[in-house]
Amino acid sequence: MRVVVEKDYEAMSRCATDLVQKAIEKDPQCLVSFPGGDTPVGMLREFVSRVNSGMIDPTGVKFVQLDDWVGIGPQDEGSCSHFVNTQLLTPMHRPFADKFLFDGSRIAAIDCQLKEQDAFIRRYGPIAVEVLGIGMNGHLGFNENGVDFSLRSHRTPLSAVTKAVQKKYFGGRELPLAEGITQGIAQIMESELVILLASGVQKAEIVFKAITGPVTNELPASILQKHPNCIWLLDQDAAGLL
Ligand code: GLP
Repeated sequence: MRVVVEKDYEAMSRCATDLVQKAIEKDPQCLVSFPGGDTPVGMLREFVSRVNSGMIDPTGVKFVQLDDWVGIGPQDEGSCSHFVNTQLLTPMHRPFADKFLFDGSRIAAIDCQLKEQDAFIRRYGPIAVEVLGIGMNGHLGFNENGVDFSLRSHRTPLSAVTKAVQKKYFGGRELPLAEGITQGIAQIMESELVILLASGVQKAEIVFKAITGPVTNELPASILQKHPNCIWLLDQDAAGLL
């Protein structure tokens, strides 16, 4: 596990894009996965700009989404699939070769979508670059506190912390979202490179605990201590307690 501290959010986002670009140059047919949330916005902006200026060729690359809320779909602002579409897929002038996105509003088809995501990752995988954020409770995707580390794509109840934080994605409105769907820790740990992005003072404590504390499923991100090729890419604020 390596910890890289950049001076600010912009520098962190550029560095993340450099790492993703390098992986795509090494294997132009590779599978990549980016998270939703606020943290990757800068990286996605930089990624799209490099695609549109010809620096990155996405046309052989496959993309798989990390996680989403059960109950809302791509048409709903605040869903991760809406985020991926608006921040990444729509502004890219040249598309990925293939992609997998959830539609959390298709409740009856959730189990089927989880199987499809797992099959997509098995078909094109392992994931060459898995970019992750970290939740305030240390979750990765929606692998919440107490998660079984052996799980692959699965559906899960959301923790109290995640429910409290979620309204920031919906303009302050509280939606009755109680479940998530997510890649599992098994798929994350099989990825060739994991880049954990964290920015801001509010993440400093959980980052400190995940990196320096015991490996426990009570703090899911601590499992990354055991990943053979994981980079914690932080801005100075998020690294403040290290
Ligand atoms: C969200 C998502 C994760 C995300 C994390 C951090 O709930 N489930 O995929 O990485 O929590 O989000 P943010 O970057 O907004 O802090």
